[in-house]
Amino acid sequence: MRTPLLAGNWKMYKTTGEARELVEGLLHGLGDVGDRKVLVCPPFTALQTVRDLVQGTPIALGAQDVYIEPQGAFTGAISPVMLRDLGCAYVIVGHSERRAIFGEGDELIGKKVRAALAHDLTPILCVGETKPQRDAGQAETVVIAQVRAALTGMTPEQIGRIVIAYEPVWAIGTGDTATPADAQAMHETIRRILGDMAGSDTAATINILYGGSVKPDNIDDLMAQPDIDGALVGGASLKADSFLRIVHFLSPQE
Ligand code: PGA
Repeated sequence: MRTPLLAGNWKMYKTTGEARELVEGLLHGLGDVGDRKVLVCPPFTALQTVRDLVQGTPIALGAQDVYIEPQGAFTGAISPVMLRDLGCAYVIVGHSERRAIFGEGDELIGKKVRAALAHDLTPILCVGETKPQRDAGQAETVVIAQVRAALTGMTPEQIGRIVIAYEPVWAIGTGDTATPADAQAMHETIRRILGDMAGSDTAATINILYGGSVKPDNIDDLMAQPDIDGALVGGASLKADSFLRIVHFLSPQE
């Protein structure tokens, strides 16, 4: 029912020339990916270069952030209209680096989710607890609150159009990934909350990605979990061979 989505978050890496080289490598090794969706999220400055390369291929294009207004006096910001104009289909919203480094809170993140939807961009809403929160037994409470805060007041139809990425902050860029069982437990919780908000039929269609040190050597075990519907990949998406291995994850029966 849910098509797996393998997404690369390039963060603040890759000049246009480096972006071109990476995408050419991905296209070279991609092969048949008819049963899964592949997405790359380059920095704004490489979107046009990557768009020209992926047009007409199975690779979709996304951005890493968006502002909430279509245009206006917002120095340094990028609007959803501009992202659509560059061929983006997705946008990451509320990544933990945006929350922690740039001070984004749940209210702004909720507005970004709505702005993305209003302009036909699929928002990938990121949620996740910090290490102290997990150690204090608050992981579920924190994640539930983040999901509810961002989606509150939205219709089931709107909620049905988003993607969630569960990214425990302590697993991002650390090599310290959540165990497949811990990730599965949180994904199940998130799906239950989505069910409360939008109905279980809608919740059953929503892709919930795991993110945080996803690598070629742990992707198969993560994807074997019933509620893990894909991955949001940082470091391992910066090289063609490692991202391709993640895209080509093996199901348990293979
Ligand atoms: P990582 O980053 O794969 O390098 O841990 C994931 C993310 O921040 O989306």
